[in-house]
Amino acid sequence: MFHMKKIVAFAHVLLAGFSACVVSPTPREHAPIDKERVSAFSDTINKKPVRLYTLKNKNGMTVEISNYGATLVAIHVPDKNGSSKNVLLGYDDINGYYSGKSYFGCVVGRYANRIAKGSFTLDGNVYQLPQNDGLNSLHGGGNSIDKQVWDARIMNDAIRFTIVMKDGENGYPGNVKLTVVYSLRADNSLVIDYSALTDKSTILNISNHAYFNLSGDPSQSILDHEIKINADAFTPVDSTLIPTGELKTVAGTPFDFLTAKKIGRDIDNQDQQLIFGKGYDHNFVLNKSGDGIPAVEVENKTTGIKMDVRTTQPGIQFYTGNFLNGTEKGRAVAYQFRTGFCLETQQFPDAPNQPNFPSAVLRPGETWKSRTSYTFSVVK
Ligand code: GLA
Repeated sequence: MFHMKKIVAFAHVLLAGFSACVVSPTPREHAPIDKERVSAFSDTINKKPVRLYTLKNKNGMTVEISNYGATLVAIHVPDKNGSSKNVLLGYDDINGYYSGKSYFGCVVGRYANRIAKGSFTLDGNVYQLPQNDGLNSLHGGGNSIDKQVWDARIMNDAIRFTIVMKDGENGYPGNVKLTVVYSLRADNSLVIDYSALTDKSTILNISNHAYFNLSGDPSQSILDHEIKINADAFTPVDSTLIPTGELKTVAGTPFDFLTAKKIGRDIDNQDQQLIFGKGYDHNFVLNKSGDGIPAVEVENKTTGIKMDVRTTQPGIQFYTGNFLNGTEKGRAVAYQFRTGFCLETQQFPDAPNQPNFPSAVLRPGETWKSRTSYTFSVVK
């Protein structure tokens, strides 16, 4: 019996090794796969394989992704001295992702961020979603696509994940087929292409919930990172973090990141919005700008690592890890208050209940598409 188990385990690692394809044009340049790590992220749930995939390019960037939650597990990029740094918060094995409550690196939906009281009306029908954040519904209402096994397909320099969100699942109408493609480019850009189709009118807001720390050391606070956000306005919230509906100018507030400043410069100001968020946890209304101009630029002076975020989405949730409190562990640390920040590109939170916000309705026959890229470089 023991022997049998061992063979099965070995076959499992072997199989995992195959599917954990390290994609690059010339297979000989592939880094050897760390079998132990691959094994720590391999499992089977309801007969579906859970695997760790790796994208690697020639400029020293490596991205690990699990098909559980279509989750970004690690992003290694070179720092100013040429040594590799993992800039992502994450757990050390797949079990961490099963039990994790902070949405590390996963794709969130069917409606990312909050819907007030978990309720919305569409075409005269009232829908009730799970209330998993006080009275509100957060990130699809719990046990959503971030806690499911997606189908995976390895492409040339990319991995494609697909999932079907069923009609009525977590209270949402319509069967929605969602596709997420992660591509790694030679210029150290990780490009995320999302697309979705529905068979009934529904609402949709899909994002990625990666937590970054560009120091590469997740025991360090992110407050010394310099950030620039190309947004003249943000959407203020009430005490439950539901937008009031106002688009408020950032001028003269701690939310003005039009010129780069340290995340920590104003974060502890006695500002009602910062008190509600316990820091920044707000949707920024992105200025419409050409493709080339990043929505956000963030930099860590110690490593010299800089990240530019570009997106086709109208908003971005800048969240400074204010709910991290040491209960989530990985990479040899307990992740403390404000040791990671998220830049969740998105439709505006609670848009289905906010007539002034861009519509987040998807109709049958329409294809919803969005693209977000995270580009890494070094500033010496
Ligand atoms: C989003 C929310 C935050 C928090 C995190 C998950 O970013 O806006 O308030 O819930 O997800 O911890």
